Amino acid sequence: MNQTPPQRAGRFITVEGIDGAGKTTHVQAVEDAWRSAGRDVVRTREPGGTPLAERLRDMVLHEPMDALTESLLVFAARRDHLHTVIEPALARGAWVLCDRFTDATFAYQGGGRGFDMTVLSQLEAWVQQGRQPDLTLLFDLPPVVAAERLRQARQPDRFEAQDGHFFERVRQAYLQRMAEQPHRFALIDAQQSPDQVREAVLQTLTARGLL
Ligand SMILES: Nc1ncnc2c1ncn2[C@@H]1O[C@H](COP(=O)(O)OP(=O)(O)OP(=O)(O)O)[C@@H](O)[C@H]1O
Ligand SMILES: [Mg+2]
Repeated sequence: MNQTPPQRAGRFITVEGIDGAGKTTHVQAVEDAWRSAGRDVVRTREPGGTPLAERLRDMVLHEPMDALTESLLVFAARRDHLHTVIEPALARGAWVLCDRFTDATFAYQGGGRGFDMTVLSQLEAWVQQGRQPDLTLLFDLPPVVAAERLRQARQPDRFEAQDGHFFERVRQAYLQRMAEQPHRFALIDAQQSPDQVREAVLQTLTARGLL
């Protein structure tokens, strides 16, 4: 009897860190490396990644709202993104590269805004049904360094306009998340030069069989 061989599952890599840490810059380096290796790559971001989720992103970044509303909108966007983009891509064997994911919700809404992380954990379980990234690259650096990088780069959004204390809480919440799930994270020293950061990222992926 003819049997279709089981499809090889894809890979799901996320990139996290405070604003200005260098995530988007280095996501590009990973995408380039994967494409050179002939991978089917899906590059995406959160909040966003679908037309509906991008509209929700726009609201979250620009409209004032309480922390529960914000968390619900972020997870609504995530549900749409997982359902229509990420899960179908992984099912066909694609390698998915996502600029921010759920750790950012714990870091910004939980750490930054002080929202109840047990509620976030419930939303995470409900929306993700056990789906977690295979690897999360956490770009870590002092907020003052990141702020200086961003200072001339662009106009701040609602989060970027927050003070250094906000970003220190975000940073600590990311580190706490890593301490809770150490196997899933790789810490990248994002204070290094762009070339050094790129090298650290590519070495980490190589060491984990992800390049
Ligand atoms: N290692 C680095 N050293 C110095 N400057 C850097 C480094 N990495 C990135 N930059 C610069 O810092 C700025 C912010 O980088 P980038 O947009 O990649 O950060 P980000 O983490 O994606 O920020 P955001 O969360 O706000 O999207 C850019 O102008 C980028 O060129
Ligand atoms: Mg970015």
